[in-house]
Amino acid sequence: MCSSFLFIGILVCVFSISQTLNTCDLPARGSPYFPKNFSFGVATSAYQVEGGWNSDGKGPSIWDDFTHNYPHMIKNGATGDVSADSYHRFDMDLAALKELNVSHYRFSISWPRIFPNGDISSRNQMGIDYYNDVIDKLLANGIEPMVTMFHYDLPSEIQKIGGFANPLLIPKFVMYATELFEDFGDRVKIWMTFNEPLVFCKASYAEARYPPLVDVPGVADYLCVDHTIKAHAAAYKVYKSRFYEKQRGKIGMALDSYFFLPKLNETEASHRALQFNIGFLAHPIFHGGYPEIMVKDIETNSLNEGRIASRLPRLEGYWKEIVKGSADFFALNHYTSRLIKRSVDPTFMNPSFERDTDVDETVDPTWLNGGAPWLYCVPEGLEGMLKFIREEYNNIEVIITENGWGDSGELEDDNRIQYLKSYLQAVLNAIHDGSHITGYTYWSLVDNFEWANGYTARFGLYAVDMNSPKRERTPKKSAGYYNQVIKSNKIVNEVDMYRLMKNQFVTKR
Ligand code: GAL
Repeated sequence: MCSSFLFIGILVCVFSISQTLNTCDLPARGSPYFPKNFSFGVATSAYQVEGGWNSDGKGPSIWDDFTHNYPHMIKNGATGDVSADSYHRFDMDLAALKELNVSHYRFSISWPRIFPNGDISSRNQMGIDYYNDVIDKLLANGIEPMVTMFHYDLPSEIQKIGGFANPLLIPKFVMYATELFEDFGDRVKIWMTFNEPLVFCKASYAEARYPPLVDVPGVADYLCVDHTIKAHAAAYKVYKSRFYEKQRGKIGMALDSYFFLPKLNETEASHRALQFNIGFLAHPIFHGGYPEIMVKDIETNSLNEGRIASRLPRLEGYWKEIVKGSADFFALNHYTSRLIKRSVDPTFMNPSFERDTDVDETVDPTWLNGGAPWLYCVPEGLEGMLKFIREEYNNIEVIITENGWGDSGELEDDNRIQYLKSYLQAVLNAIHDGSHITGYTYWSLVDNFEWANGYTARFGLYAVDMNSPKRERTPKKSAGYYNQVIKSNKIVNEVDMYRLMKNQFVTKR
């Protein structure tokens, strides 16, 4: 729409941009500049971008099985079999990363590429070679690798013995993590063990939306979180005792949460929702033990339901000790917010996480909505979340490891630019207020397989032609915008956006 530079065209563009700006803008506080050495990056995950689902000895993951066996549960029956084909076309991703001028790239390693059946006995050198190549190329281009060990693609064989519902997950994960430290730890200095445990534990074990399609809410999801946090802490302990002295890296876990803005001044409800969501994993890691309010209320609910013990497993003794302090930074994935009040008449399924949390979530009808139905632009929510972390977790270092906007794939993606601009402003405002934030990571580098939404919600700064065998990447307008932010180390204003419209950045590959 804004590609023409005729006089009238400019007027139309100016008008349409200022219209868009009003919908999710955030007033600035303090300096427009990011701190020196602030790290800008982009993120992807293995199943979502790699393709090569059975290449070079890779074993099947639960997402391979799910997409192949339950196509009706994914929009248009899509799969990640090829996706952006980054397994065969990493050089195209590298070219985009260089063009953006990012300082870091967050990607995940596919467990079944390293151990095709999940176990150490199945070590696959070709999978290891692929990631060595990725890491070496990033470093050769001055881009820091940030590696997630697990982003949903569990080896199928581990699922056959119960996956995250079986405590055997813990030693299996520790062996996998140890292999990664041994193979890549000389060059990878920032690790995340798991991506968004609460998301995958709920979707996989309580809501039957993700594999293995278990539907035991308020029980199996809690068990899954418990095993995940223990596996994380055990891997952290191995790193500290065996690898840290030589490798000197840091480890976190990517935690996701909406922010919960109090509706009608219900701050207690907002705090409660935060403890149940971000606090579920962050409290044990930074303070020890699950949040008291969860322990107390879930036990009460469980006893009232006629059970003999709480549905929330105990995190005590050895485990409580080793979980406490098991992260060197706060890896935050944050996209959107909800308005919250205490629910008066809960109709949630009993038992369930929602019933235990016992709050009502709504959205403000004026919030700009994205291509993904859950995604609203609420930048003040990111500011609130960063304030909560600052106050609740002793102002620990935060790296924003995911934040992004989905749409239907347009190249003239003004709403993405607006979202990015406002959320970056939230980061700057929080830094101004004293938060220790050292990096920001946009999700995602390229359009990719968006889980059950298939390819219908696109988050990339680069479009990928999913119909072409070569999977060409084309920068969207937002890629140029982000590039300008990175180059100038500050939030870029409307004047610079007009420059972008002259296509200074865009080079079609
Ligand atoms: C996150 C997830 C990513 C991506 C993103 C956009 O929760 O970690 O894999 O799908 O949401 O929906």
